Amino acid sequence: MIELIHLQKKYQNVTPLKDVNAKINNGDVISIIGPSGSGKSTLLRCINMLERPTGGQILLDGVDITASKYDITQARRRMGMVFQSFNLFGHLTVIENLMVPPMDILKKSRQEAYETGVALLKRVGLAGRELLYPEQLSGGLKQRVAIARTLAMDPDVILLDEPTSALDPTMIGEVQAVIRDLTNTGKTMMIVTHEMQFARAVCNRVFYIDQGGIYEEGPPEQVFDDPKLERTRQFIRRLKVLEVTFGNPDFDYPGITAEIDRYCQTNVIPARLKYRIRLAFEELVQQLLRDILVKISINMMVEYSEKEQTATVTVRYGGDRFDPSVGDNELSYNLLKASAQELEYTYDPEAEECNEVRVLFRE
Ligand SMILES: Nc1ncnc2c1ncn2[C@@H]1O[C@H](COP(=O)(O)OP(=O)(O)O)[C@@H](O)[C@H]1O
Ligand SMILES: [Mg+2]
Repeated sequence: MIELIHLQKKYQNVTPLKDVNAKINNGDVISIIGPSGSGKSTLLRCINMLERPTGGQILLDGVDITASKYDITQARRRMGMVFQSFNLFGHLTVIENLMVPPMDILKKSRQEAYETGVALLKRVGLAGRELLYPEQLSGGLKQRVAIARTLAMDPDVILLDEPTSALDPTMIGEVQAVIRDLTNTGKTMMIVTHEMQFARAVCNRVFYIDQGGIYEEGPPEQVFDDPKLERTRQFIRRLKVLEVTFGNPDFDYPGITAEIDRYCQTNVIPARLKYRIRLAFEELVQQLLRDILVKISINMMVEYSEKEQTATVTVRYGGDRFDPSVGDNELSYNLLKASAQELEYTYDPEAEECNEVRVLFRE
């Protein structure tokens, strides 16, 4: 069991962790979520003592691993870390990446390290790739090697820091499947991930990190569906609903496309629906409402329902009444209409954003 007691980490200019308290039981699989910069990575790095906390204690089975006389290599042997950026040894082959740490640190024989390595590569679906170098592998395969390398040390605790966020969307699923497989081994795991469906499937607890500590925690159903505190609610809502305001016709197109992609990834939205959400953005906001955008800002909201397998794109704007179906860009309108299940324009003179276009897509 790991116990965090008044854990604090201060840097020169910021104190991401002010007072973190938690009891992590053996076999817990914990999803760590929270705003960017809230200290999620710092927390994982403190737990395995890659960074020294500036206050508080970490008890590993009752022993304070932050104590100055404690030999931290003991704790590190029991904890493995998987990074967003893989951190493989580029000059070593795949199998050597798996063999070196157990030989160096656990003093395993070359033969034993080799046999374990081969078996682990098989387990993560990489049999036969032993002699390749990391640079010859895709991101998804590299991350599977990194997971196998962590397992080669046979840790009791595995810490994963956004393990799929640097991956091409097509590879996320297979890396998630490998992590999912690990959760069946009964190892304690802490995973920084905003992929809610995945977290629901594999985790028994969720920690929402904010304001220097574990701001709210609970089982995934509770934190994701019924958070108790306002900040958690707002954060979860932002995960579930994408909201963008366009204020200028020369808006940041790649930035918005990236946000749509990130939203689709967080919610594991099927590729076809994602394509349609992008289509709505391109045809509706960029084409049909282009002239409106010169004068006023437009608000776009995307909401995905996993249960219904639908995505709703709602666009609102003020100004005069303007129904995009009566504009002169028939091509864009017809494209949109053809791919949508429902396409509806409403005008409410009472509302500040009196125009509303709602598009519903079905998978
Ligand atoms: N080595 C460091 N030195 C100084 N500041 C750091 C260092 N690492 C992280 N920080 C700061 O600590 C805060 C938390 O960072 P981080 O743990 O990476 O957040 P998260 O993983 O939640 O996005 C940020 O403000 C970041 O700039
Ligand atoms: Mg981080």
